[in-house]
Amino acid sequence: MKHLIVKPFPKDFFWGASTSAYQVEGAWNEDGKGPSVIDMREKYPEGTTDYKVASDHYHRYQEDVALMAEMGFKAYRFSIAWTRIFPNGTGDVNIKGIEFYSNLIDELIKYGIEPIVTMYHFDLPYALQTRGGWSNRGTIDAFVEYAKVLFENYGDRVKYWLTINEQNMMIMHGKALGTLDPNLEDPDRELYQQNHHMLVAQARVMDVCHQTLPQAKIGPAPNISYIYPASSKPEDVLAAQNFNAIRNWLYLDAAVYGRYNKTAWSFFEEKGYVPVIEAGDMEILQKAKPDFIAFNYYTSKTVESSTGDGNDKNGTGDQEIVIGESGVYKGHSNPNLPKNEFGWEIDPIGFRTTLREVYDRYQLPVIITENGLGAFDKVEEDGSVRDPYRIDYLKKHIEQMQLAITDGVEVFGYCPWSAIDLISTHQGAKKRYGFIFVDREEYDLKELKRIPKQSFYWYKDVISTNGENLS
Ligand code: BG6
Repeated sequence: MKHLIVKPFPKDFFWGASTSAYQVEGAWNEDGKGPSVIDMREKYPEGTTDYKVASDHYHRYQEDVALMAEMGFKAYRFSIAWTRIFPNGTGDVNIKGIEFYSNLIDELIKYGIEPIVTMYHFDLPYALQTRGGWSNRGTIDAFVEYAKVLFENYGDRVKYWLTINEQNMMIMHGKALGTLDPNLEDPDRELYQQNHHMLVAQARVMDVCHQTLPQAKIGPAPNISYIYPASSKPEDVLAAQNFNAIRNWLYLDAAVYGRYNKTAWSFFEEKGYVPVIEAGDMEILQKAKPDFIAFNYYTSKTVESSTGDGNDKNGTGDQEIVIGESGVYKGHSNPNLPKNEFGWEIDPIGFRTTLREVYDRYQLPVIITENGLGAFDKVEEDGSVRDPYRIDYLKKHIEQMQLAITDGVEVFGYCPWSAIDLISTHQGAKKRYGFIFVDREEYDLKELKRIPKQSFYWYKDVISTNGENLS
């Protein structure tokens, strides 16, 4: 639809940005923090650093929040490191960890910035992993125990909660993210069992949140990308339906409706991935209802029908770029889309499509919790950091979000990735996403000085005009 009149962004729209604890904080073993699966990874991608210091936000959060306030942030989405609160995943609470996030939340509130808290962003406590991680139903109880402590300590100030960041990516690409236990014997079968446990854990936590904090709102935070068929061939359309179900709707149907998506379920049956569901699990899923859907969007995906000959994996690079599943769908590079420096297709219109589809299916308010462009930014001789490519990416996505709002989608916030430079999941410190440059290199920490980028000033203007001025 080509709108002649575009609706404005809602008043009180949550303009902000996101980070995650392990990618930004550093201080990986300070003040009683326990190790997470990320800290204990056997190796990191070649030529990339670990997360021990990251952007040193743990020690510099006041300076960072002041810069966010200067940009005019209305919201900041960050994650709490489970291992700062429970160094062993469960058991004794670490008071220093409680204090850190309490101080961070107070600092945000001081500037009128709404804290939006992700409870778990990839960094499962290593102590839980050694006991089977998400394969062990005990981890469900540990997550609920952890959530209760967060609600008790921060529920007076935090109104917006996100349960699990990108559960779908942890299940489908855990190896690349470093969240998959490398010793799993039958990873594919086991992963969908873990997925089931995460769904139950999420549902229980949503329920506890509603019971204990009636004013709070809580939702899931998957990565959602609408899947296109490579052509109008019916076989390709079926393949796209398959992948949409397995990658996207499986997770949201369970979170919102408390049921397994039928196409995804038939995929489990076909492949031998059917999870064990214990008595009462489905009732738990059905009882819990999210208040909104948060999702991360970077790119769309395109697939064609499977050749079934073992050559369905298609694409280059890492993470999600190589996709395909024998007999189900085959990855296809979309010739209509440009790619970023890392091979990710750039698709702002796909963002509008995805927003419309999510809202049509679930009829819940939506907040975008990640969207952004990774790039090799650098400091110019005059000390500035120019990132017009990032401005271009964000501008085009914001335009499409506004069109989706005009289409009728209820969007209440936009928190792109990332507020400040942090360590990328796949390409270390050199791949940057932030509005604020952190002056460090992969292996040389330098002084970790903060430098507002060109996009910082641009976004400040976007926020101050409530999205009217995108130029
Ligand atoms: C999302 C994650 O998948 O993508 C973030 O939630 C991550 O943690 C982001 O950093 C971008 O991915 P990458 O690999 O470029 O850091």
